[in-house]
Amino acid sequence: MNLRTETKHDYEKVQDLLMRAFPGREEATLVRRLREDKNFQQELSIVAEEDGIIKGHIMFSRASLFDGIDCHPVAALGPLAVLPEYQRQGIGGMLIEEGKQRCLGHGFPLVFLIGHPGYYPRYGFLKARAYGIDITQFNVSDEVFMVAELQRGELDHLHGEFRFHSAFEELE
Ligand SMILES: CC(C)(COP(=O)(O)OP(=O)(O)OC[C@H]1O[C@@H](n2cnc3c(N)ncnc32)[C@H](O)[C@@H]1OP(=O)(O)O)[C@@H](O)C(=O)NCCC(=O)NCCS
Repeated sequence: MNLRTETKHDYEKVQDLLMRAFPGREEATLVRRLREDKNFQQELSIVAEEDGIIKGHIMFSRASLFDGIDCHPVAALGPLAVLPEYQRQGIGGMLIEEGKQRCLGHGFPLVFLIGHPGYYPRYGFLKARAYGIDITQFNVSDEVFMVAELQRGELDHLHGEFRFHSAFEELE
């Protein structure tokens, strides 16, 4: 499995993948909007390719954690998608691990997401509110709002209010 940075030539295939993996078009729209942002970091949009087929895709975007004084840049995971016929082969997990390494390389201390509580904890994601981090941008339960440390100990001193990129707010 080749995990590599998404290029412009992949955009159409990735959009098709997102439309097949998710029931609606929200995630495809989100990815398109995040790519258009001037701060978009290409290396944080990753494809899993094998035999010329893009089987999975993951995207991370720049988000913020406001501690009441300072606004810390952090990463947000999403969306993550694997083509239905290639799910349960570990592709999602490989993309998460690769993405976490890349986020660390970009200097992000933490990565956040809203996602399935039965899936992400196996990749180091913890309930964010248990660590003094809240989200007011979306009304979500404690179970689905998660964070992973990219460097041990970051959750001991980083707290406050998390915010996704505004592209997450504008979904149809
Ligand atoms: C979620 C998703 C990315 C996982 O990709 P994957 O390559 O199948 O994942 P992995 O092979 O790394 O892990 C498979 C494990 O995840 C579990 N899993 C997959 N989707 C899950 C879900 N929605 N909730 C809970 N567990 C899930 C499987 O049960 C499997 O565990 P098991 O083998 O112990 O039973 C993929 O199923 C997908 O694209 N789903 C549709 C889009 C989606 O929901 N994306 C995530 C949004 S938060």
